[in-house]
Amino acid sequence: MNIVDRSMDEFFIYWITIFILLFALLYRLPSVIKKLWEAYIMSNIPFHEFPGVKLPPGTMGYPLIGETLQFFKKGGEFYKEKVETYGFIYKTHLLGRPTIRVIGADNVKKILLSENVLVTHNWPTSARLLLGTGSISQSSGHVHKIRRKNMMHAFRLDEMDKMVPVMQDVIRSNLEEWKSKRDIYTYPQSKLMAFTVSACTLVGSDMTSLINSGMHDVFKQILDNIFSIPLDIPGFGFRKGMNAKRQLLSMLESILSDVDKRPYTPILKAHYESSSKLGMESIEEINEGVIDLLFAGHETITSVSTNCVMFLGKNKSVVEKLRDELRENNLLKHKGEEFTPLDLQTINNLKYLHCVMKEVLRLCPPAGGGFRKALQSFELGGYLIPKDWSIIVSIRETQHLSPLFKHSEMFDPDRWNDDKLDKGAERFHYLPFGMGARGCVGKTYAQIVIKVFIIELVRTCDWTLKNENIQMRYIPVPVASDYLPATFYDPALN
Ligand code: HEM
Repeated sequence: MNIVDRSMDEFFIYWITIFILLFALLYRLPSVIKKLWEAYIMSNIPFHEFPGVKLPPGTMGYPLIGETLQFFKKGGEFYKEKVETYGFIYKTHLLGRPTIRVIGADNVKKILLSENVLVTHNWPTSARLLLGTGSISQSSGHVHKIRRKNMMHAFRLDEMDKMVPVMQDVIRSNLEEWKSKRDIYTYPQSKLMAFTVSACTLVGSDMTSLINSGMHDVFKQILDNIFSIPLDIPGFGFRKGMNAKRQLLSMLESILSDVDKRPYTPILKAHYESSSKLGMESIEEINEGVIDLLFAGHETITSVSTNCVMFLGKNKSVVEKLRDELRENNLLKHKGEEFTPLDLQTINNLKYLHCVMKEVLRLCPPAGGGFRKALQSFELGGYLIPKDWSIIVSIRETQHLSPLFKHSEMFDPDRWNDDKLDKGAERFHYLPFGMGARGCVGKTYAQIVIKVFIIELVRTCDWTLKNENIQMRYIPVPVASDYLPATFYDPALN
């Protein structure tokens, strides 16, 4: 071999080696970056205070964004894959924060009963800024206690009994419209209905002025961006949400200032009273509380009513059983007769209706989880939960994976006829409204709206689903991803 051939070979080997090294580096680069990011996060954790206790299993994704992009891309599947891979307590990095998701009755119980001791509520930044400090859900400490106490008092049974006819009117006229349109997408129609029910019963506005004001569309912009990357720059969802919030606040200011024309509802009164007790003067902050109520009572009810149409549409025998119960209680319309008006006592006597509502909320809880932050490092289920990390208490997987519910994936309202289940044995296995110091203040109100909706649905409508092979999406709330197209018509009742 002459000198020229040898140097050609060396040159060739040199470049091949460089190429292989570069390729290996690039190939390995993502996992090297992830490892460095994880090491950086771990560097602040006081492992020495908890000898032998490890962090939960899981992955932290890429610097800053963590696993947020996968989360938005996969939706509910993200959580499903994680629980299958890592079990009931795992770590991840979401919406800019190291996060631990907690599943299972015992784990969830420990977190929910430790508010202000081990944990405090902590919604993602986008939701915190969009809902604002004037809201119950985003307030804390003394302010939260006063707001919550006042609101719980306002949602008492005698006040809600007075709301039933309003709920019934709004729901019935919406269902009439669904039938007159015949072919509808249930989700957007339910959204309008739920918004109108909340606005009429909680805020006290009349329907026509609300719909004409376009408030519902503005509100939708806030809801669509409630869980978004909190960057207030053009093109980002969060910017759209913030703009919509400003618009909504000025709409509320003009609607709510006219007390003479439209006296306050007990709910608004309670909200204003707690605001003045707290010395809160900013109209903006006060009206943030109103947005919070509309938010809490709107998207949740939208999800449940859409899912009632879905589950009942797929299970006609359940519709027939509901109708039997209504018939036994003289609540089914007979030809030529008017519908019997509803009241709280009549509604609460309907046992099967209660089972149906519970089952819809078991399979599709509108709030999939609750957001908390660790106030101190502590141990949970053998793992270390570091101070300042976010904790998401899972409602959905806790209910779906609980050993208490046999054939958990099945829609079976009769499972709630089992005395053992309905006498509190399911506490923390079943918690669609959360529990403890941050449990839902609108729980009883929401249950009444759902029951009135189911009653009116089965006694005034028949419907067929256009697509029974339904794929669900879970963010921000669980609904059919095709928005549940259905055909509505008058029922043939006897
Ligand atoms: C089916 C309907 C509803 C469901 C499933 C539901 C569920 C929940 C859940 C799970 C929580 C607790 C979240 C946590 O632990 O962090 C909660 C809190 C809350 N809910 Fe509801 N909710 C519903 C309807 C309503 C309605 C209609 C209102 C008001 C009109 C309302 C007002 C609130 C408020 C203000 C909070 C915050 C409580 C606090 O932080 O102290 N909810 N809800």
